[in-house]
Amino acid sequence: MGFHADIIDFGKGQPSLSLLPVAAWRTATGDCLARGDAGLLQYGADEGDVGFRDSLAQFLSRRYAMPVTATELVVSAGASQALDLVCTRFTRPGDTIFVEEPTYFLALDIFRDHGLRVVGIPIDEDGIRVDALQDALVHHRPALLYTIPSFQNPSGTTMSAARREQLMAVSRTHDLLIVADEVYQLLEFDTAPPSPLATYAHSARVLSLGSFSKICAPGLRLGWMQGAPGVLHTLTQSGVVQSGGGLNPFVSGAMCRMIDLGLADTVLDALRGVYAERSAVLCRAMRELLPAVTFVEPTGGYFVWAQLPAAQSAAELLPMAKAGGVAFHPGARFSRGDGFAQQMRLSFAYYDVPELEEGVRRLAQVLAG
Ligand SMILES: Cc1ncc(COP(=O)(O)O)c(C=O)c1O
Repeated sequence: MGFHADIIDFGKGQPSLSLLPVAAWRTATGDCLARGDAGLLQYGADEGDVGFRDSLAQFLSRRYAMPVTATELVVSAGASQALDLVCTRFTRPGDTIFVEEPTYFLALDIFRDHGLRVVGIPIDEDGIRVDALQDALVHHRPALLYTIPSFQNPSGTTMSAARREQLMAVSRTHDLLIVADEVYQLLEFDTAPPSPLATYAHSARVLSLGSFSKICAPGLRLGWMQGAPGVLHTLTQSGVVQSGGGLNPFVSGAMCRMIDLGLADTVLDALRGVYAERSAVLCRAMRELLPAVTFVEPTGGYFVWAQLPAAQSAAELLPMAKAGGVAFHPGARFSRGDGFAQQMRLSFAYYDVPELEEGVRRLAQVLAG
C-alpha cells in the first residue's frame, strides 16, 4: 500500500503540489521579465494595474458568461485579504454580521480578529434560508452578510437561482450589503452553477470576492473584488492599499500574461477535470466502504460534507481516526454554535486516486472500531 507512515488528511483544502502550474508560470513570468517592464517592480495603482484588470475582465466575461469591465474590479491579495479589508472598511468592532451556518471556518477567524458579533443563518439544499434571514433581520441590524454561493465551503451546496433573487430582494429591502465569496464559482465539474452574485455587483448591494487560489495557485496570493464604484472607492481608501501602492503588482503582471496567452484557461480546465475525477473516486469509495455515512455527491468545488451514523461525534472520532492514519475537519469547526457535531468535511483536492481510496479504507476500519 505504501502509505502507512503518513496521515491521509482529508482536512487539507488545497491542491496537491503536482497540480500547481509551474511551467505555465515560468512562461508568464519569463515573458514579463523579457519585456523589461520595470513598472511591474514599482508601487502600483491603488485599484491595480489597468492592463491586468482589462485582461481579468475579459477572462471573467468569458467564464461568467456575462459582461465584466475593468472599472468594476480591484485587485486583492486573495479572498482572505479582501475579507479582512472589507471588515476594516465596512465594520466597527462590536458590529453584528450574518454568516451561513455552516460557513468557512477561517472566515470566522477573520471576523473574530475584527471584534465582530457573528450570527449564523441556516442553509438548506438551495443555499441560505431566506425565511430565516428575514426572521434574523427582525432582531439584528447587521453590517453585512457573508455568503459562499457556489460549491460552499464546507457543505458543497450551491445557492439556487431563485434563492439568489430572493436574497437580493431582501438585500434591497433592508439595505443589506452582501459579501459574496465566489472563490469556487468557476470550479464546476460539468454543469455551471447559476450566475455569480457578481451579476448584482453594479447595484452597490453586492461585493463579490474572487481568487486565483482555487483556479490556479494559492501561493500567488492574487484575487479580485468586484463591486460598484462607491464600494470599491471605500475599499481602496484603506491605509494598507494606499501605503502599499495597490496589492501584488508583479504577480498581477504575470497573471495578465497567463490570461493573455490562454494559459489561465488551460490551467483552470485541467483542474476541473482532475477535481471531477477525484470527487467521483472519493464518493464511490465512500458509498462502497462507508455505507452508513451519508452525503450529497458534490457537483463542483473541493468538498464532501458527510454525516456520521447514529449520533456519532466527528470530534470524538478524530483522535481515533488519526491513530488509524486518516484525518478530516469535524463539522463543529464550521459552526457559530455547537452545530454539526455529526458532520465531517472531506476535501478531495489534495490527494491522488490511490490515496483517496486508501484514506476511505482507513476511515472504514476506524468506524468498524
Ligand atoms: C470560501 C473560501 N474563501 C476563501 C478562501 C481563501 O482564499 P484565498 O486563498 O484567496 O485567500 C478559501 C480557501 O479555502 C475558501 O474556502
